Amino acid sequence: MLGQQIERLVATAAVTLLGVVGAGAQITGSPHDFAGLDARRRICVFCHTPHNADLTVTDAPLWNHAVTTRTYSLYDSPTMDATTNQPTGASRLCLSCHDGSVAVDSYGGRAGTIFLAGPDAVGADGLANDHPVSFQYTDALAIQDGQLHLPSSAPSTLGGSINQDLLFNGSLECASCHDVHNSGPARAVNDSLLVITQQGSRLCLTCHNL
Ligand code: HEC
Ligand code: HEC
Ligand code: HEC
Ligand code: HEC
Repeated sequence: MLGQQIERLVATAAVTLLGVVGAGAQITGSPHDFAGLDARRRICVFCHTPHNADLTVTDAPLWNHAVTTRTYSLYDSPTMDATTNQPTGASRLCLSCHDGSVAVDSYGGRAGTIFLAGPDAVGADGLANDHPVSFQYTDALAIQDGQLHLPSSAPSTLGGSINQDLLFNGSLECASCHDVHNSGPARAVNDSLLVITQQGSRLCLTCHNL
């Protein structure tokens, strides 16, 4: 269970921030600011380190958090064209807190004690009931499906194409929809750290051509 500890900490940080710089617009005071759990109130250290990073996950950004080893059930349906795989890359990093199996405060070799549970532990019951992640979203897939925008050319609404702004080496990951640092344009909306607003289902309609 995630201690109310964190929620209280985040709430306090947010209140302090509001007084100083206006509505939350950055990682400080966001749901991923765990500074209150670190003796030196560091924020980045829960996920990153400048040295001796964990190389278990391919392309992980200087990773400093214990990595989940779970195997997940995967989403499938008769109309699904892409083949999904066990989560790789950034998605496995997210699941290293969001499957509830590794403590949030397991960083830099520490054995933590605070675990995510409830709706925030999206991977705790596997990924069969979640939007698919960790698969290549290519133009060929879009053409085969017939109801997806071409990722190489369709605008993401963030300045570039879907491929440039939302995919990781062509792959759709948790971070295609969420900004872990709360630094994206949707931050002011304060809506589940989404990179594009849910207003009018803009997020979904960026990729789905319906
Ligand atoms: C809760 C975990 C978490 C925290 C805390 C966090 N990051 Fe990240 N960071 C990630 C993940 C996951 C990725 C890879 C996914 C992505 O790029 O969106 C990433 C990617 C990055 C990248 C490479 C991609 C990019 O966005 O430029 C940089 C640089 C980075 N983080 C810096 C920081 C700094 C600096 C801090 C502290 C102010 C920080 N992060 C705090 C999880 C975190
Ligand atoms: C170090 C652990 C950790 C990592 C790594 C991490 N998260 Fe989180 N995340 C949390 C915790 C803890 C909360 C709940 C905070 C709270 O209850 O206030 C949270 C909350 C969230 C929320 C809910 C925000 C809201 O407004 O309610 C989303 C969405 C989210 N994380 C997505 C991600 C994604 C996507 C990644 C990877 C790119 C990621 N997280 C990586 C620990 C982590
Ligand atoms: C296709 C877009 C998309 C992808 C991919 C995605 N999410 Fe989400 N996520 C959302 C949306 C939209 C919401 C808000 C749901 C709502 O408002 O009811 C959300 C909500 C959440 C929340 C808040 C709790 C909840 O259930 O509402 C967490 C935590 C979260 N996502 C984590 C993740 C993680 C971890 C991954 C990767 C395994 C991921 N998301 C992949 C779109 C996505
Ligand atoms: C970054 C692009 C992107 C975003 C954003 C996105 N999706 Fe998807 N989604 C895809 C792709 C690609 C697939 C795989 C389709 C396939 O292979 O048939 C998919 C699969 C799905 C499926 C399963 C389709 C099937 O045939 O079983 C559903 C349902 C779905 N998405 C709904 C949503 C909803 C609802 C949202 C918004 C909350 C959303 N998507 C946001 C790209 C995206």
